[in-house]
Amino acid sequence: MSVSLILTCAGKGERAGFNENKLLVDVNGTNCIKKVLSAFIKSGAINQYIITANKNDFNRIKEIAKTAIGDGAKVVLGGKTRTDSVMNALKEVSGDIVLIHDGARPFVSTRIIKDCIKSAELFGSGITAVPSRDTVARGEDCILDYAGKSGLYIIQTPQAFKTDKIRLAYSKIDGTFNDDGEIYKRFIEPPKIVNGEYDNIKLTYKEDFELLKQCGEYRFGVGFDCHELVPKRNLVLGGIKIEHEKGLLGHSDADVLTHAIMDAILSGASLRDIGYHFPDKDPRYKDIDSTVLLKKVLTLIKEKGYALKSISAVIMAEKPKLLNYIPKITQNLASITGLNEENVGIGATTLEGLGFVGREEGICVHANAVLIKL
Ligand code: CTP
Ligand code: MG
Repeated sequence: MSVSLILTCAGKGERAGFNENKLLVDVNGTNCIKKVLSAFIKSGAINQYIITANKNDFNRIKEIAKTAIGDGAKVVLGGKTRTDSVMNALKEVSGDIVLIHDGARPFVSTRIIKDCIKSAELFGSGITAVPSRDTVARGEDCILDYAGKSGLYIIQTPQAFKTDKIRLAYSKIDGTFNDDGEIYKRFIEPPKIVNGEYDNIKLTYKEDFELLKQCGEYRFGVGFDCHELVPKRNLVLGGIKIEHEKGLLGHSDADVLTHAIMDAILSGASLRDIGYHFPDKDPRYKDIDSTVLLKKVLTLIKEKGYALKSISAVIMAEKPKLLNYIPKITQNLASITGLNEENVGIGATTLEGLGFVGREEGICVHANAVLIKL
């Protein structure tokens, strides 16, 4: 059986109070529509995509749909209400089964999508819902009626139907309805419940959008660097000048800490290393401030859809004592990367006189980075 998806994106997002449709608001380089589309693409279960858009957002949504899905995606004008929007979209459906989903629910799982489709195949419908965890009551200033919680469900989307049945139901509409399941119930039969997930929330208010920043796949990066200590050079660590009679030798400012951190960030995003991006034969990088390169690295990962969550590093140096410099270095790296200071963990150690670090011939740094693929 072929499956169509109607993704409703034609609202205005008034309750969220952004100055544009909440679904298009940039969150760490992505947005709600991109997130929700990638959830359905990942499921591999959808044959046809139909997206509702209001006039204002039509071209932007078309562009996003084209990038995510290709030319096959259909964007149709929505209506005044969500029901009107779905009614328009239903005309375009070619699948035997249609899933109707809120563009504002980006956390939908492949399991839910597949269970809805299975339920529609077997029973004609599948409405995602979770049992109410809390007591539900009706009222205004005072509670007028307790509905309890046993046998009560919180309704979510997607809601899946045999296409001919939901089309028939929509053709009979005679009033206002909460959602597609209610329309199906009124004109066809009581729809079947599919187990939802409590995480499958609809982003309604501004604060809900904080959740988008947290979700994604975590990646861990590792970096290592080492430079020789020589006289007549500055010693710079994390962009901070350190008082010492020797400094690090290198083509750039030889900021070994920033170099190891950049390599950690690049490796977490599978973007090779600093030698690949900033070759040490290139005259453009002669004596360059390495924190300038760090900013370029942050742009590179952002372009690939990654956000940096934390960095940590251990500096291996026999001398000088770095203890008093650590807060300044931490502060500087936090301000460059845009991380909170508590997500920048910098430490230092001696090597107890052992090896080339112990003989004060060089300084090494081992760094880690945590990234999130949005
Ligand atoms: N929607 C739609 N057409 C409408 C109204 C809403 O396609 N005329 C979509 C929204 O874009 C959203 C989903 O239906 O993805 C659920 O609606 P809701 O969360 O209420 O979003 P908005 O209507 O945009 O928000 P608000 O009610 O706060 O204005
Ligand atoms: Mg609305």
